[in-house]
Amino acid sequence: MAEVHLEHVTKKFGSVVAVDDLCLTVHDGEFLTLVGPSGCGKSTTLRLIAGLERLSSGQIYFDGQPVGHLPANKRDIAMVFQSYALYPHMSVEENIGFALKMMGYPRDEIRRRVTEVASMLNIQHLLARRPRELSGGQRQRVALGRAIVRDAGAYLLDEPLSNLDAQLRVTMRGELKKLHADLQRTFIYVTHDQAEAMTMSDRVAVLNEGKVLQCAAPAEVYNRPANMFVAGFIGSPPMNFIPGEVQREAGMLVFRAEGIRQRLPLHVALAVDGTSVHDVVLGVRPEDIVVSHNPEEGTLTATVLVVEPMGADTFVTLTIGRIRCIARVTGEFRVGSQETLYIRFDEAKLHLFASDDGRALRAERAMVLNQQEADLA
Ligand SMILES: Nc1ncnc2c1ncn2[C@@H]1O[C@H](COP(=O)(O)OP(=O)(O)OP(=O)(O)O)[C@@H](O)[C@H]1O
Ligand SMILES: [Mg+2]
Repeated sequence: MAEVHLEHVTKKFGSVVAVDDLCLTVHDGEFLTLVGPSGCGKSTTLRLIAGLERLSSGQIYFDGQPVGHLPANKRDIAMVFQSYALYPHMSVEENIGFALKMMGYPRDEIRRRVTEVASMLNIQHLLARRPRELSGGQRQRVALGRAIVRDAGAYLLDEPLSNLDAQLRVTMRGELKKLHADLQRTFIYVTHDQAEAMTMSDRVAVLNEGKVLQCAAPAEVYNRPANMFVAGFIGSPPMNFIPGEVQREAGMLVFRAEGIRQRLPLHVALAVDGTSVHDVVLGVRPEDIVVSHNPEEGTLTATVLVVEPMGADTFVTLTIGRIRCIARVTGEFRVGSQETLYIRFDEAKLHLFASDDGRALRAERAMVLNQQEADLA
């Protein structure tokens, strides 16, 4: 069992800062995912934890003990690499058991463990085959098997599903989650696929340019993104962003953009009130746009640009004047392109960001509750 703690970890390759003063604690037994765009430093972070790269500065601790000076084989970890390569001349059984053989385990013990892992991964019938006789998904499982056959404090997985087709990825997502539940070990998982991050993890750390922008439970990252980058990265289709201004009208804070006047909900107004914040970006998730064929008080008039039926949902690209948004409606909603629709935003779900640095303007939950109680009293 291991808690993994990164303290002010920096890794430079010449002038490139791959990991930039990163602080992160992965709890014992946790499934934590590092997610972010290509080149943001995910693999480098994992390789630093594994001991495959040397720290430029900072320190890494396993269960409170510094490990920065330890080589990879002295750290209690097992890793699945982004570009895994199986030994082509070895059978599946030998591939999975290789690390144990190197560590001098007796034959019977290796066989017992390999069989156990193979049945966990549902490849027990393939043990005699060579890698070239396997499908991509089966090879991926063998690569996973090679890592989990070892008893390690932490398992590091770098995009282990990247070579699989969409359907198999979904299946493997479920299986990895179950594997984590069975093993009850620390998993640090790297992906650029936000769906993988959201579905499997206890917590998600969103990285950009070598920095952690937010680390929280998936629902928290989705519902309370810390900044515009996180808000735009997590969610598909992405959150709609509408640049505009905060104004005070009749004692009330409103968001104004061309053709849009939107009262600011309490959780936003409390964060903005009394500050000098003026230039802002309104954030609206596609599912928080309420769409109707009929005008009602306060609705905005929108023109349909594109309709994309997805089955259960339909994505509708709309224009409100010069502003373009995507709304997610149910698959039953009938609409054609060029039609006029009437929309409003679900006020309670609105997000607001400062234009200058993209930080979320949102009051703490406790502050909102206090105000609500005060309003009632
Ligand atoms: N050995 C190296 N030498 C020089 N630069 C490197 C090296 N390894 C990584 N980098 C740079 O460090 C940055 C982070 O790379 P890293 O591989 O950690 O990204 P990543 O988040 O894993 O991306 P991807 O999703 O594409 O795998 C990139 O700018 C990359 O070009
Ligand atoms: Mg990578």
